[in-house]
Amino acid sequence: MSKTFYIETFGCQMNAHDSEKVIGTLEQQGYARVQDEDAAGLILYNTCSIRDKAEQKVFHRLNEYKRLQGEGKKFAVLGCVAQQEGEKIFEKAPYVSMVAGSASYRNLPEMLRRLEAGEERITGLDDRQTELTFETEFTARSNPHRGYITIIEGCDKFCAYCVVPYTRGKERSRTAASVMVEAKKMVDLGFTEIQFLGQNVNSYRDPSGRMSFAELLVAVGELPGIRRVRFTTSHPRDFTRDIVQAIDDTPTLCDHIHLPVQSGSTAVLKAMSREYTREWYLERMSWIKAAKRDISITSDMIVGFPGESDADFEETITLVGEVKYDAVFAFKFSPRPNTPAVTMADSIPDEVKSERLRILMDRQREIQRTHYGRHLGEVQEVMVESYNPSRNQVVGRSSQNKTVNFSTAQIVQAQPPVGSYLPVRITQTLPNCLVGEAIADAEAMPLVSVQGGLDFVVLN
Ligand code: 5AD
Ligand code: SF4
Repeated sequence: MSKTFYIETFGCQMNAHDSEKVIGTLEQQGYARVQDEDAAGLILYNTCSIRDKAEQKVFHRLNEYKRLQGEGKKFAVLGCVAQQEGEKIFEKAPYVSMVAGSASYRNLPEMLRRLEAGEERITGLDDRQTELTFETEFTARSNPHRGYITIIEGCDKFCAYCVVPYTRGKERSRTAASVMVEAKKMVDLGFTEIQFLGQNVNSYRDPSGRMSFAELLVAVGELPGIRRVRFTTSHPRDFTRDIVQAIDDTPTLCDHIHLPVQSGSTAVLKAMSREYTREWYLERMSWIKAAKRDISITSDMIVGFPGESDADFEETITLVGEVKYDAVFAFKFSPRPNTPAVTMADSIPDEVKSERLRILMDRQREIQRTHYGRHLGEVQEVMVESYNPSRNQVVGRSSQNKTVNFSTAQIVQAQPPVGSYLPVRITQTLPNCLVGEAIADAEAMPLVSVQGGLDFVVLN
């Protein structure tokens, strides 16, 4: 087998970051990454099973790989569908040699050696009860300015609809010391933004008992060189006031909290085993809204959970109006294997789910149309992500995680380097983004040099 690999990744940020660690581990083992599956000796497929018959899509994709098997290539299925379907994958796609869930990745070097020795049925599926996390110094981060750090793996919440506790195993936190070491290394490499990752980051418990989640946020935010710290995703159950306080007190902590509510109806929340009520959630919202900073709030929602009545759904709509989210990611309920909800009758017809989804998204778009208006005239710090030549605009991101498209007519550099930070005056607001002009205000926002790029220069 040639020591080249091609990897395809689906799913959430956790999966994207897992792939960065897998890539780093493979490269450390002497493998070279290629961008074309035809050129690869090993094809890895990092899968997601959160919604919508995900396993069928995986098998469909594996079927397409079949044509490549005659060429001596090897195949590995990783991630959530691998964990969920296990050895069934070997039965349905016999040309696959390795099936491994995320809780087993720390054994990858050993699994790779077995693969090279010609073993054909390698599994990493038994680690869901592990207390260990996957810590590697060989993460191949794809963006040189902004990078993820996993602070907590797995999930013990067991929401009735969710596969994650079954696919990613028990909840386990890394030590604060090890997170700090990784963060410092990233700063030394030139990263200015760090994003903490976990299924429930705010359930973080430092095994050494040294730091709370909020303290860890502040500690990383205070590292010299760090400009932004984000975290995702949070669970309302464990959301504490000190997180809001930390954001208020620490300018580098981004003013954005993603706090999925899932439903506005206490009855549906109960059926979902979310273990909070609408009122309890709204109390957390009031903490966030009482902050000195304008903290952006976003959420995930599920429509059509078994038993959701018209009145329940209406409560979701009124909640959206009350909170005024900056973004809502809404999904139709889809029954997932192994979850408690799979045995509840999927009682809401698909047309009703679709209709509810449409109503929710329309309502949310209206809210964003007016609510984004609060930013008009503000000067926001924007991190440059790319350049859009057709519109002659730079595309960047605000601390609140909003997309900002801006022109550079007032400053020297038409295409400021990716990863630099600029002050931008907001001149127009749209439902999904802000539009503005970079301004020459070096005093208000000190300039940074970015690794490998030019110092950004503005006219005075
Ligand atoms: N059906 C629909 N949506 C789901 N989510 C998780 N599981 C399901 C499911 N079975 C949504 C939740 C979660 C987001 C990542 O995906 O809203 O917060
Ligand atoms: Fe998909 Fe959930 Fe697994 Fe992420 S944790 S890859 S969203 S199933």
